[in-house]
Amino acid sequence: MMSFRDDLTNFGQTHLLEHMATLSPAQAQSFSKELASVDWGRARTMHESAGPGALPPLPSTLAPLDAEILSKDARDLAWKTGHDLLSRGQAGFVLMAGGQGSRLGFEGPKGACPLGLPDDLVLFEVQVRRLLRLAEICGRLPPFAVMTGPDNDEATREWFARRVGESLPEGWPEFFLQSSAPALDESGKALLSAPGRLALVPDGNGGIWQRLSESGILARWEGAGVRWIHIAGVDNLLSGPCDPVFLGFAHSRGQPLCVKSVLRTDPAERVGVYVLDENRRARVAEYTELPADSASRLDLDGLPVFREANIASHLVRVDALRDFARLDMPWHLARKKISSVDPRTGQTQETGLACKYERFLFDAFPAAQGISCMRVDRELEFAPVKNASGVDSPESARQALAAIHRHWRRSWGEFDASAWVDPRSSYGGERPGTRGQEASF
Ligand code: UD1
Repeated sequence: MMSFRDDLTNFGQTHLLEHMATLSPAQAQSFSKELASVDWGRARTMHESAGPGALPPLPSTLAPLDAEILSKDARDLAWKTGHDLLSRGQAGFVLMAGGQGSRLGFEGPKGACPLGLPDDLVLFEVQVRRLLRLAEICGRLPPFAVMTGPDNDEATREWFARRVGESLPEGWPEFFLQSSAPALDESGKALLSAPGRLALVPDGNGGIWQRLSESGILARWEGAGVRWIHIAGVDNLLSGPCDPVFLGFAHSRGQPLCVKSVLRTDPAERVGVYVLDENRRARVAEYTELPADSASRLDLDGLPVFREANIASHLVRVDALRDFARLDMPWHLARKKISSVDPRTGQTQETGLACKYERFLFDAFPAAQGISCMRVDRELEFAPVKNASGVDSPESARQALAAIHRHWRRSWGEFDASAWVDPRSSYGGERPGTRGQEASF
């Protein structure tokens, strides 16, 4: 049987064995446990396939993917279908919440970062309240799971356990931990975050398919009748979990994958775009990899050619999700400043930018048998919280939400439209206390 020592030798990581020899017996024991938990063959693959000098995995021939824009009548119809699916327990919701809120100046899960909203509402709470309200409208609470990261798993679970408000049903939400990978130097050697500790970093949201399967959530939900899983990023304040319109649209298009987009107007915006590759398979070209000349190409109307921006909101049918979980997903390189220690001396060293490898969940999309894309209004559905101030900040997201609430209140005939609306009492602009459909715009 191969031991992790053989693996370290075979995969060019002998510096870690040398480092182990400098540790106390107790430190060496915990270090060897950590070393044994890493798949070193996988670490080699990620460095060889995506490391410095490797080509980005984006095909060279790309065409834009078209989206559908729903009329008011089509939205109403889709809402009814989505409502039906939810009433029958056929949809579940997964929130991707790996990663810290450090870019927001907050040391904790992004979903718990204070945003200056009434009731001190945070991103997690908005999702919880919208789901509870949806359950009231549809007569059934959708299953809900949160994907956490190694840095925020404990804090996220604690936040949900301690949240103030009506108590949540036992086991709702469920949690599952995303995967991690070692950070490497230029030559592929694993870095140490401290003496006797590997620098392990979250390896992107692309592990979600496998983790949903391995955690048993996929099988359990499927057994309970779930047919569609809505996956969304944690940082969009306007994200509608299990949005009935989206569900109804996806269902009626009959494709196993359905995505939401917004119109991209600024070529410099940090969003991925939906494209078709040379085999006419839909995928996302991430903003970090789309060549600048493609990103800024305009059509005759002056709009970007690649105009359907990914807002990290995807509906996947469970049969497709099972297939996604079996895929070997490609790796992408991201450079990251991390502090590391010299394995020989145990002293903090300057390593420059470390190689951090990530998988992107949408790299699974070309494997789907078909895709439909629904373009939604940016003002109504996309207000990401990515920066501490300025664009895509808590302030810009708050303003977007306030504008929607003003509109809702006016549509209810209220003329003090300044008050905000608790997401627990209205999911999509329906009058509180009713079980009606969304407000129209
Ligand atoms: C992401 C999309 C981008 C899209 C944009 C919209 C990916 C790879 N990119 O970019 O195409 O236009 O959102 O806002 O999805 N996450 C984890 N674990 C990780 C990394 C990320 O759970 O290891 C989660 C985050 O919590 C977040 C989501 O995945 O909910 C997106 O990740 P983030 O790093 O914020 O991606 P962006 O660069 O904003």
